[in-house]
Amino acid sequence: MAPFISFEGIDGSGKTTQIKLLEKYLKSRDVPMVVAREPGGTEVGESIRQVLLKSGNTALRPLSELLLYNASRHQNLYQRVLPALEAGYWVLSDRYVDASMAYQGYGRGVDVSLIDQLNNMVINQHMPNLTVLIDMDPALAVSRAQERNRHDSTDEGRFERESLEFYQRVRQGYLEIAANDPLRVRVVNGDKPIETLHREIVSLLKTSKIESGCI
Ligand code: TYD
Repeated sequence: MAPFISFEGIDGSGKTTQIKLLEKYLKSRDVPMVVAREPGGTEVGESIRQVLLKSGNTALRPLSELLLYNASRHQNLYQRVLPALEAGYWVLSDRYVDASMAYQGYGRGVDVSLIDQLNNMVINQHMPNLTVLIDMDPALAVSRAQERNRHDSTDEGRFERESLEFYQRVRQGYLEIAANDPLRVRVVNGDKPIETLHREIVSLLKTSKIESGCI
């Protein structure tokens, strides 16, 4: 199967920008690839995304939130990610399973063993070969994300109301996930200039265990 790479980080860490740059880089080298995003990516998943991110949905309970993210993930995995990998396409996933642990577990306080069980059921051992975690100071990242959303017409503001403490817990969660699985999860510093970080991510791909001979 082709390489499966996920990107993680708190809101405003710049992962979507880095995915776009990597996409351009891989395409310029004729690497067959697709980008997947969570929540979303499929018709069902995009409908779930609207429920999850709509700013008016304040009644959503943490467990409902966890289940919805996982429903979207399961659809995306079986409808898009696995077929692409099997056909030889690299998959760059804008978030995956670690996001549930960091946001719903560390951020919202849902029982982490429950999240683990659910994750296993939903992804059936299909873990990424590599996860790039873009680490960043939440104060900086949140102000970036808020700035971007002010210029955005989509109603995806539910998470923008979260406190700085919430994002500090999410960041801590991500760093613990990385410390527990250092071979898969590689941490990069999101404070760096965009191009510098892009070059770092490319060299990370070249030196990681994924089959990257073509780049
Ligand atoms: P995303 O689309 O990656 O946001 P952005 O591109 O604006 O950074 O994710 C949307 C939000 O959903 C984000 O705040 C993180 C959250 N999220 C979870 O809480 N749990 C999850 O399992 C996933 C995939 C995302």
